[in-house]
Amino acid sequence: MKLLVIGGGGREHALAWRLAQSPRVQTVYVAPGNGGTARSRQIQNVALTDIGDLIEFARKEKIAYSVVGPEAPLAAGIVDAFQADGLKIFGPIREAARLESSKDYAKAFMMRHGIPTAAYQTFTDPAAAHRYIDEQGAPIVIKADGLAAGKGVVVAGTLEEAHAAVDHMLGDGGFGAAGAQVVIEECLEGEEASFIVMCDGHNVLPLATSQDHKRLLDGDHGPNTGGMGAYSPAPVITPALHNRVMREVIHPTIAGMARDGVPYSGFLYAGLMIGPGPDATRSLKVLEFNCRMGDPETQPIMMRIKSDFSEALELAIDGRLNDAQIDWDRRTALGVVLAAANYPATPRTGDPITRLAKDTDDCVVFHAGTQLEDQVLKTSGGRVLCVTALGDSLKRAQAAAYDAITRTHFDGQQYRRDIGWRALHQAGAASNETGQA
Ligand code: AMP
Ligand code: GLY
Repeated sequence: MKLLVIGGGGREHALAWRLAQSPRVQTVYVAPGNGGTARSRQIQNVALTDIGDLIEFARKEKIAYSVVGPEAPLAAGIVDAFQADGLKIFGPIREAARLESSKDYAKAFMMRHGIPTAAYQTFTDPAAAHRYIDEQGAPIVIKADGLAAGKGVVVAGTLEEAHAAVDHMLGDGGFGAAGAQVVIEECLEGEEASFIVMCDGHNVLPLATSQDHKRLLDGDHGPNTGGMGAYSPAPVITPALHNRVMREVIHPTIAGMARDGVPYSGFLYAGLMIGPGPDATRSLKVLEFNCRMGDPETQPIMMRIKSDFSEALELAIDGRLNDAQIDWDRRTALGVVLAAANYPATPRTGDPITRLAKDTDDCVVFHAGTQLEDQVLKTSGGRVLCVTALGDSLKRAQAAAYDAITRTHFDGQQYRRDIGWRALHQAGAASNETGQA
């Protein structure tokens, strides 16, 4: 069968790469794809982004089903449009995607359904927002309501920073319509983890856990980015905590959406903040929902899938996720992002990729911001590559990824040297002793 993956980043390359390995799959089309998907034999790029054009393509090519990678087409209603045309697609409908596309919607939803999250208030009036900040004190977190490509959150350490963020979002229209409303919330402390599940409206299948590294520089310093590297599993999510996340966050969310008349199908990503203490009592709160898989979390997660992922997706689309199963490689996968010069502010593009480590069974270079120009692979975006390796321990996966990086090069490349540091600092983290996917 033929499948269509919508998007063009590292997440979509990893998804297409995994799906292309299914014996049932003849071709995976990626729209628009990137330089990496352009080079694979069973994967073909399609230069389309318009929803109407994608529908026409899916119909003409008799695509068995489509999968959506990024949030923007979901928030624009791509799933509603495909379904209206009788085409199979995996992702939430527009109304359900509001869990990501409106922070105010997500917060109100969590309050209504008793899902643990930081205390907050929503503002459109700058004067009221400034007053609230003075009452609450710093640190405090200011979030643009709408989609802001990962740049709409300011964790303000001081009152000055918090007031400036409100002025930028509400006063200067710094984020356009996305910032016409701001959520101001309590600053949480702890360790972050990405908990991603598949849903079919009612049933849930958790994917392997993972952890991202959001800051640009080693030691979690520097500006926030889309994510500089990730690994799976996340040892912080012990089996006991896994059960708590399912019970306290995931099941109430899926049940709550169904009760609100907006059953959730698609990938659901809960960004969690896990406080200190013993598993049974440590604080567990949702920082955010995303209505898609994470990037770069998807890259290590896809490396660890051993079963036919195309089957799980098809069952999910058909509302039969309770029949689906995913077999996980017990090893750890770790991916390091190579970003372009001047990322994240003003990434430089057009640098030729002069060396590229050869893919093996246990190490794959997933492409994000690359494109093929007259057979020359060049950088075309902020996050360029994600070098992802499997290893018997986190340490070995890390060593293998960094070793492959020594065989990969483009001018201006920047990457973190410490991906995996949190897990390495945790006792017993070097092996998959928890037995948890
Ligand atoms: P978000 O886009 O909501 O994931 O926020 C981006 C990043 O900001 C998160 O990954 C956290 O590192 C941080 N963040 C968001 N909300 C909070 C909060 N309430 N307290 C502390 N950090 C936060
Ligand atoms: N890596 C974080 C995200 O995809 O939102």
